[in-house]
Amino acid sequence: MSLEKVIDNKINDLLMKIDKQKVPEHIAIIMDGNGRWATKKGLPRSYGHNKGVSVLKEIIKASKKLGCKTLTVYAFSTENWTRPTKEVDFLINLFNKVLKNEIEEIHEESTKIKFIGDLSPFPKNLKEIISSSESLTKNNNKFLFNVCVNYGGRQEIVKAAKQLALKSSAGEIKPSEINEELFNSQLLTRGIKDPELLIRTSGEKRVSNFLLWQLAYSEIYISDVLWPDFNEFEFLKAIIDYQSRNRRFGGIESLPNESFQDSGYSS
Ligand code: FPP
Repeated sequence: MSLEKVIDNKINDLLMKIDKQKVPEHIAIIMDGNGRWATKKGLPRSYGHNKGVSVLKEIIKASKKLGCKTLTVYAFSTENWTRPTKEVDFLINLFNKVLKNEIEEIHEESTKIKFIGDLSPFPKNLKEIISSSESLTKNNNKFLFNVCVNYGGRQEIVKAAKQLALKSSAGEIKPSEINEELFNSQLLTRGIKDPELLIRTSGEKRVSNFLLWQLAYSEIYISDVLWPDFNEFEFLKAIIDYQSRNRRFGGIESLPNESFQDSGYSS
């Protein structure tokens, strides 16, 4: 049997274990480990980022196949500016090239692409291609692909708080009217359902300033695989693990009230 056939069979085995009715509608991913993957192979870090792009394409395809509606990836954090200028420039160039090469297919597949973050420090040509890609795909409704660039969760929350403070001092809202819904409406993700699942690759167990508000109730799946080695098989493992969780949102499974016993408390 060819290697491809073996892989297909392994993927089909996992697909059979997945409940299509319980696939997360929104999955967020911290694509981590590109640099380490390349270094381990004795290659420059840029090779890891290039391979990371082809993995991303595979995961978008796999998400659509499962019926997931939204994928949000962390492509460039506010902290990534501290990397060597050459790597930052490489990443900016990569976003540019990927958009140029892929936007037609993205559009043909009725995918809407949205960039989330402060785009102001990026070069004019990247800002232009981001803006034209967003407007080309703005009415697409099969799938939403969010790319977080120069994004930081704390910065997003501070900005939302500032906007509400300004509205309040302008008399547009009363402080007593501020609630979760109003706060949510000031975030860069307004109108987008919170992710049910966060996947982080490379074994790191941190949220790293990603979607701090939106991940409040998300399930977290850590894969030890470095992002360039991640694939549909590993992705399906994450979905199966997610489906095995019991999502209680702070509650407990319904039990009759009388089944609770006060066991007393003594210090
Ligand atoms: C994390 O690995 C990866 C990144 C900072 C960049 C990811 C970007 C892409 C895959 C390109 C996506 C392009 C578009 C247009 C969506 P790392 O460099 O932090 O790896 P390390 O932790 O091993 O150093």
